[in-house]
Amino acid sequence: MTTKNRLALFTPVEFGAIKLKHRVVMAPLTRSRSIQPNSVPGDLMAEYYGQRASDGGLIIAEATNISITSRGWLGAPGLYSQEQVQGWRKIVSAVHAKGGKIVAQLWHTGRSSHVSLTGGEAPVSASVNPSYWENTDHLTSTTGGWVTPSPHRALTIPEIPRIVEDYRKAAEHAKQAGFDGIELHAANGYLIDQFLQDNSNKRTDEYGGSIENRSRLLLEIVEALTSVWPSDRVGVRIGPGGTWNDMADSNPEALFGYVAEQLNRFGLAYLHIIEPRVKGNVVIHEGQAPIAAESLGKIFKGPIIAAGGFEPDGAEEVVEKKIAAAVAFGRHFVSNPDLPRRIQEGLPLAEYDRDTFYSFDARGYTDYPAYDTELTAK
Ligand SMILES: Cc1cc2nc3c(=O)[nH]c(=O)nc-3n(C[C@H](O)[C@H](O)[C@H](O)COP(=O)(O)O)c2cc1C
Repeated sequence: MTTKNRLALFTPVEFGAIKLKHRVVMAPLTRSRSIQPNSVPGDLMAEYYGQRASDGGLIIAEATNISITSRGWLGAPGLYSQEQVQGWRKIVSAVHAKGGKIVAQLWHTGRSSHVSLTGGEAPVSASVNPSYWENTDHLTSTTGGWVTPSPHRALTIPEIPRIVEDYRKAAEHAKQAGFDGIELHAANGYLIDQFLQDNSNKRTDEYGGSIENRSRLLLEIVEALTSVWPSDRVGVRIGPGGTWNDMADSNPEALFGYVAEQLNRFGLAYLHIIEPRVKGNVVIHEGQAPIAAESLGKIFKGPIIAAGGFEPDGAEEVVEKKIAAAVAFGRHFVSNPDLPRRIQEGLPLAEYDRDTFYSFDARGYTDYPAYDTELTAK
């Protein structure tokens, strides 16, 4: 058992006002277990998050919808009703009971949706791109199974303040639920990313064209979120170079460099960066070193959480080299509820079962055991 080479991950760190005892963060993971039809987090979710909480560790909760029309994935929870707030309270309590911290990830899926999830409304995006529903290989989970997204429409300028207001209200609800902070989901090809990247944003108004214009929606939303929360409890997640959900940009270095620089003015808790070596939930560039955190870390002045395709030793290395302040693990947290302990003590990691990532019950969700030292010692 080697512990001495994982020292950097197990030193305290502060993300703004969020004080942590170690740097093994649980990445946001959509698991589709909220109660339908109203997207309410229930006791099963409280059990799951409680299992994954650790003393002084940070959990970034799964992507959570800010409104009915923002929904795009069956079983994802929301933060737009009091019933949902009450459900989240139980989850937050379960995490706090173990000395852990938890932030809510706020989500609008934009064009990546289906009318059966939005209450019948056509999904919205920056621009209309018929190839997204005609040729995409990106499917979304609905009551009718995995389906192609519905045809979307472009948001009009007068509609944008309403979207920003939905984010602001969801941020208020996150406060009522007792979260330690919030993270804005601006990655993985959802609404904000659809505005940021130029293969999905073809607008010619003040929300399209230049990098400044494409970043406008993101910055307006961050402004709204920091009117509700102290900015040192707000984080932003970006996916520079991410191709999941049919995304691409002609100059991701310039775009995300600008975003990182603009975010400096808010004094955020952290910037959470997904490495381009992963595509959504799979690794596509095996062995590629983390590059996004390294380059954007030179621009962003606050702490960086790096994510995407990390194994414990690689995580230790980026923290030790100060490329990132912490590392978020996704899939390993699915099958290792006690991941921080396993990493610290050099214990073996359990394999995850991809078939139950997005299924709807306890199987493959709350039934992964913590490492049992006594059993293994026999
Ligand atoms: C089952 C599953 C669900 C995911 N859901 C989300 C999500 O809700 N929000 C998000 O920003 N990323 C989501 N991701 C991406 C992960 O947060 C993470 O970036 C990705 O899994 C790569 O990290 P890993 O190699 O440690 O798994 C999801 C990934 C998986 C595997």
